[in-house]
Amino acid sequence: MSGHGHPIPMTAQACGPLTGIADVPGDKSISHRALILGAMCVGETTITGLLEGQDVLDTAQAMRDFGAQVVDHGGGSWSVHGVGVGGFMEPNGVIDCGNSGTGVRLIMGAMASQPITATFSGDASLNGRPMARVTDPLALFGCQAVGRAGGRLPMTLVGAADPLPVRYTVPVPSAQVKSAVLLAGLNAPGQTVVIEKEATRDHTERMLEGFGAEITVRDTKEGREITLTGQPELRAQHIEVPRDPSSAAFPVCAALIVPGSDVLVPGIGLNPTRAGLFTTLREMGADLSFENERTEGGEPVADLRARFSPDLIGIEVPPARAASMIDEYPVLSVVAAFAKGQTLMRGVKELRVKESDRIEAMAKGLRANGVAVEDGPDWWIVTGAGHGQVAGGAVCESHLDHRIAMSFLILGMAANAPVQVDDGGPIATSFPIFEPLMAILGARVSRNSGQ
Ligand code: S3P
Repeated sequence: MSGHGHPIPMTAQACGPLTGIADVPGDKSISHRALILGAMCVGETTITGLLEGQDVLDTAQAMRDFGAQVVDHGGGSWSVHGVGVGGFMEPNGVIDCGNSGTGVRLIMGAMASQPITATFSGDASLNGRPMARVTDPLALFGCQAVGRAGGRLPMTLVGAADPLPVRYTVPVPSAQVKSAVLLAGLNAPGQTVVIEKEATRDHTERMLEGFGAEITVRDTKEGREITLTGQPELRAQHIEVPRDPSSAAFPVCAALIVPGSDVLVPGIGLNPTRAGLFTTLREMGADLSFENERTEGGEPVADLRARFSPDLIGIEVPPARAASMIDEYPVLSVVAAFAKGQTLMRGVKELRVKESDRIEAMAKGLRANGVAVEDGPDWWIVTGAGHGQVAGGAVCESHLDHRIAMSFLILGMAANAPVQVDDGGPIATSFPIFEPLMAILGARVSRNSGQ
């Protein structure tokens, strides 16, 4: 949904131990893909555990606009009657992707090789984000795009009537770009090849295989090379969406910094292309264990147990790990504020073009709360002084960014004075049950009076 309701100022304050079970919602990346791939099959795809955050609801509506029947059966159970590869209808109105870069970029890919025209828009955050990274490779299929200056939304795409298969090396580590090219490749004849120099989340590849596409992956000198044979008949599937490790990060990190905490987060997707945060936290001395490791729906899953960790230390996070934890740097910077010494995060330029410039947003808010932060174009350093040493007390701006809002609220749970965010509304895009879930664990998060 574009536009945004009234701001929802929120406050988090120090609390007793966080304890109990944190049932976090379904994975956002997999939820978007389940709806889009479901719409590209003939027959009924059923989905359980779908994330019902606004980002995913916007993708569901978009798939309806392109002609699929998408039905909410309640309790995270959904079905999609797809239109088949190449079967998208031309939408009547503007496709509103709200706050979601994943939604808009993947959908652009899916329609780019079909002979239809669609106009995309979003909220102020999404309309400020770069889209040339997807429209450049989509042009190679024969798709034309016209947007605002700098390749920004709103933007109209005229899909290719006679798409050509493409060979493309992704210039930035981006699963969204990779996935857009693969989805466009579905309706192009012959083989579309995508090469990524650094491995990014591989849900699209795994799911395409599950839906019956011919897709191979091999490591080459150039990088990870993915070859997709176009124009397959995708087979409708049942998809069980694992719980989102990027959402689990919030109760896990809160437990590490709130004295006495012991939290279990069951059924978390631990795909290695997503799990970098947990490796990093352990290197910092976090008391974090994986229990009951198993495979569900083709994805590795485990129950995560996080306990208060009084002796966290700052570390250097290897740049090679950045893609596997790209969404988790904001909340990592909060944990780093409670660790002793410097946490150096390098190779993270992509953080500057997320829902907000996440380095700038976190650096400003952390400094306002008494935490020392230095930053450069693709790096930042948080210097922590250990537990009990974070002053807090500031109002932080969330910049229409769900992960920034949640990160500062986690900071407030262990800081010496309450921390406020100017707008917690964006949390609903990815983690609509954040407030009640954290309250059940014992957190003290409230909407400011008058809201
Ligand atoms: C996503 C990919 C990442 C990530 C985003 C979800 C996806 O973006 O930040 O939240 O589902 O493909 P990039 O691929 O642009 O790095």
